Amino acid sequence: MNRSKNLRLWLVLAVALLLAAGLGWMRFSTPPAPPGNLAGASLGGPFTLTNQDGQMVRDTDFAGRWRLIYFGYGFCPDVCPTDLALVGRGLQAFEAQDAGRAANVAPIFITIDPERDTPAVLKPFVAAFHPRLVGLTGTPEQITAVSRRFGVYAKRMDTDDPQNYLMDHSAMIYLFDPEGKPVAFLPHQGLTADAVTALLATHVR
Ligand code: NI
Repeated sequence: MNRSKNLRLWLVLAVALLLAAGLGWMRFSTPPAPPGNLAGASLGGPFTLTNQDGQMVRDTDFAGRWRLIYFGYGFCPDVCPTDLALVGRGLQAFEAQDAGRAANVAPIFITIDPERDTPAVLKPFVAAFHPRLVGLTGTPEQITAVSRRFGVYAKRMDTDDPQNYLMDHSAMIYLFDPEGKPVAFLPHQGLTADAVTALLATHVR
């Protein structure tokens, strides 16, 4: 083996060692996220809905982004506004903590009351909780389909006034990954803004 060949071999070895060390360090500095409580669940899937500006929105429009999803309704007297306020505050805290990762989180509100939650009703409603919160509505058929796919229970509860009916519904905060696969959920019971921040900090990469 001549001298220059020997030198080249050493250079290749040195570069390989540096690369290995670098990769090892990267892996050490960002450990893989633990599996969430929805890992492997068959939840979610395609949808076509309408946003608060009246534009058509598909699940594929969120490809490559983490999705923080909440189902509820704008006329909800208690649970939905409470949960959405916590989601908004939790996401804002995550933005303050790690603006880069937080920018890749899409907060989404999907109504289970499409008759009253028109885009015009949703627009000021979602803006009250987070500046980037997307509000989605659709035809009753579209909403039934998306609710089913996401395992959401919703039932109309009539009162004496037909305009003032209530919706009985499941309330949970869902996190889906950039491929649209379910990662984890937080129940309404005992929900805090800190828990929302922790959910994002744990899983979002
Ligand atoms: Ni509600």
